[in-house]
Amino acid sequence: MQVFDTVTGLQTYLALHRASQTIGLVPTMGALHAGHLALVAQARTECSLVVASIFVNPTQFNNPDDLKHYPRTLEADLALLEAAGCHVVFAPTEAEMYACPPVLRLSFGELEQRLEGAHRPGHFNGVGLVVSKLFHQVQPQVAYFGQKDLQQCLVVQQLVQDLAFPLQLRRCPTVREADGLAMSSRNRRLGEAERQVAPRLHQSLQRVVQSAQQGAPVAQALAQARAWLEQSGAFSVEYLEVADTEQLRPVTQLTAGQTYAVLVAAQLGPVRLIDNLLFQAGA
Ligand code: PAJ
Repeated sequence: MQVFDTVTGLQTYLALHRASQTIGLVPTMGALHAGHLALVAQARTECSLVVASIFVNPTQFNNPDDLKHYPRTLEADLALLEAAGCHVVFAPTEAEMYACPPVLRLSFGELEQRLEGAHRPGHFNGVGLVVSKLFHQVQPQVAYFGQKDLQQCLVVQQLVQDLAFPLQLRRCPTVREADGLAMSSRNRRLGEAERQVAPRLHQSLQRVVQSAQQGAPVAQALAQARAWLEQSGAFSVEYLEVADTEQLRPVTQLTAGQTYAVLVAAQLGPVRLIDNLLFQAGA
């Protein structure tokens, strides 16, 4: 496995291989877990050269404390990527990625005014900037993102469409712990008691799906699941919503056979966790 921390090093290597290889890119912020590795595994099935990037991108953090405490575990990450059969790792410094503070601002319209966009001002601008840079630097044919960050998938889809990046996007399913908690780099900051109660987040989503599919009005399904989540005393819920799967517009009435997303964000101890499920409305 080749590891580069400069764009020049990365591009010199890729230039030698580009003609004969299909390049797959897996962008990450490190502190890798099985969710990230599933993206690498998927990339390995479709691409002959898999590039993973590791960069804790400061421009997407709206909370300085979150950025400061974001886990950084480069040595362990490299060992995991090597074992997963990744071919190239790009792990640049902040100075390498942002030689000058970026002035460009990306707006994703109504998509960014909701959910993560509403609660994390500037977050998707930062994601859009860094993902655009990575797409230019690596020039992959395929790029891999996780459904765990559904709104991020939609933002990146918009970016690729509007800026005509010549690549395919793949959305990979959320990988969960045995108790249902969606894997996340932030989970390692949970205390023991918080970790015990953490699966409630996923269970609250399941409750919404179950009640909605049994015919309960969406507002009632959401209110009951939210109350149940808050009952534990551990979560401070930011949002719990049912939305369409294209623009994540809030939905109050379901149409049979249609697919919807239910999305949640909540603070649990020192970390803010997000999760979502897709479901089909019953008859
Ligand atoms: P990060 O949170 O490290 O996630 C990297 C990729 O892994 C994202 O596409 C994310 O959706 C996916 N992922 C995370 N947890 C997952 C899980 N449990 N199951 C499946 N996929 C999962 O998302 C980012 O970094 C950054 O915003 C980035 C795109 C790298 C830009 O900085």
